[in-house]
Amino acid sequence: MAGEALTELAVRRGFFFGANGAYGGTAGFYTFGPQGAALKRNLEEAWRDRFTRQEGNREIEAPTVMPEAVFEASGHLDGFDDMLVACPECGASHRADHLVEDATDIEDAEAMGAEAVGTLIADHDITCPACGTPLAGEPVEDFNLMFTTDIGPGDSQPGYLRPETAQGIFVEFPRLKEYARGTLPFGITQIGPAYRNEISPRGGLLRLREFTQAELEQFIDPETDEPPLERVENVAVRLYPADEQAADDGTYHETTIGEAVTDGVIGSPWVGYYLGVAQEWYERVGVDPDRFRFRQHLAGERAHYAADCWDAESEVDGDWIEIAGFAYRGDYDLSKHDEYGDDAFTVFKRYDEPKTVERATVDPDMSVLGPEFGGDAAAVADALEALAGRDPGAFDGETVSVEIGDEETGDPRTVAVDADVANFSVEEVTESGEHITPHVVEPSFGVGRTVQTLLAHAYREDEVDGEARTYLSLDPAVAPQDAAVFPLVTNDERLTELADEVADDLRAAGLAVAYDDSGSIGRRYRRQDEVGTPFCVTVDRDGIEGDGPDTVTLRERDSAAQVRIPVAELADELTALREGEPFASVADRYDAVDTDVETAGN
Ligand code: ATP
Ligand code: GLY
Repeated sequence: MAGEALTELAVRRGFFFGANGAYGGTAGFYTFGPQGAALKRNLEEAWRDRFTRQEGNREIEAPTVMPEAVFEASGHLDGFDDMLVACPECGASHRADHLVEDATDIEDAEAMGAEAVGTLIADHDITCPACGTPLAGEPVEDFNLMFTTDIGPGDSQPGYLRPETAQGIFVEFPRLKEYARGTLPFGITQIGPAYRNEISPRGGLLRLREFTQAELEQFIDPETDEPPLERVENVAVRLYPADEQAADDGTYHETTIGEAVTDGVIGSPWVGYYLGVAQEWYERVGVDPDRFRFRQHLAGERAHYAADCWDAESEVDGDWIEIAGFAYRGDYDLSKHDEYGDDAFTVFKRYDEPKTVERATVDPDMSVLGPEFGGDAAAVADALEALAGRDPGAFDGETVSVEIGDEETGDPRTVAVDADVANFSVEEVTESGEHITPHVVEPSFGVGRTVQTLLAHAYREDEVDGEARTYLSLDPAVAPQDAAVFPLVTNDERLTELADEVADDLRAAGLAVAYDDSGSIGRRYRRQDEVGTPFCVTVDRDGIEGDGPDTVTLRERDSAAQVRIPVAELADELTALREGEPFASVADRYDAVDTDVETAGN
């Protein structure tokens, strides 16, 4: 019920609505209206503040279209698929794993694989949600989610709309590491659109084809870098580890980040650190901790790049939805780009003290290898060099064998070379460091899903002065407007002039302010309550009569309590409230106002 009411409110009050309505609408694309765009921007700013500024990380902005080679390297061309089953009757396409999840108790059908999902569709007599035709026996196929495009006219090259903002960070690593002076650990963030050609977009902002991600790629030396875990070790979290999900009587671990890392429930301290930061941040922006958990991925559920992954999940309308993923990506991405790209995706790790090491080398005599192996001579020399690094003992005998690809057929073949010809030797060299491939820990947030969560968790219905009201209890840090200003009546020039002035002053102080002089004061409060404006300022006669400074009433949305406050102090108090000061402590400093004023308007 709250879900439907909220969707209706979202459209009516300008939070978000399906895009391109005048042309029949386009599934999977949503426009954020004025309220929603402001809420989304505030949320992004809160994320930027916590995950970029406060962590000392740096933000970049990379293109959204990238060439095919990037996704060949990243594995998305091959592995970024969802399971599709099409209806033989009406042709509608469906996420096969979601149909199984909807019809059974299975929570993660994707982890089971296409064949098992096909069997479950048959076993449970699952039918097409659009027309009711049985789907048993229909093929369950892998469908690649990337949108394709052409880069340039004529002999254009294939391009893809990025399915995650992350690749824009990885491909620029060779340059980004220079800005970090080649020193680990460092973190790069990006907030921007990502695109996935989802098989069945649904749930408002929950599953879109274009959506905003806020991602952090934390580059670390896995052997030496430690996160500042002490900052979050006491943060309480609700964890749902993979083994608990698999158990019949599996339960949550109500624990702290410190304990979960010490016990090994969270394998990587870096993942633990960011789960702790995220828990605090989600609570700060208004996610209800009682409707929130971290769930570990099951082995079959993990993305192709992830060694371990935890999802932040929120409860919306009775369903748990993933709103962020925290993946340990290891060296997967940088190694792949190192292999496929032209630049080095490594950093030079300097030793504390230079090390003297023995290095085995060869200096093959090409005047012998040339005549003997012809076009394969260079390959034989390379193979000897590789073998010297790998297995110096192989040069102890009179001959040494190596494997090369045949020049004509490419088939492997083993050739023997006199050890003398290889000119094998062991030298002592002093090394000041080594090239290593950093590991990556990635908190990846969906902004739209978080917006939807905030609205669902903030939605309230109650009664004020005997009247039903609907309001959004959004945190002042993210609410679309910081305050609304009203003249109590519109037929009093002094009041309307002062109200204009108050609104202008608050805007000049950097606050987002709505001005409303239409309808009864009660209706104006209701309108602002419905879009979650945390404070309303009313300019009335009582505030301008007498000898003292001009005053106005300041009303807090959730309690509907009011205080009388000098105009000159308003901007500072509202700024403090936006930054987290509780209304009760502001109210302590001023006189309370009888809330009857709410129904006394014109
Ligand atoms: P799901 O399993 O729900 O498809 P996912 O595991 O594919 O999600 P990730 O690849 O981990 O999601 O993406 C990181 C974040 O981006 C998600 O936690 C989510 O908040 C957001 N996200 C991913 N796909 C979509 C989408 N189609 N619409 C809106 N947000 C999305
Ligand atoms: N960058 C994580 C994801 O979008 O899958």
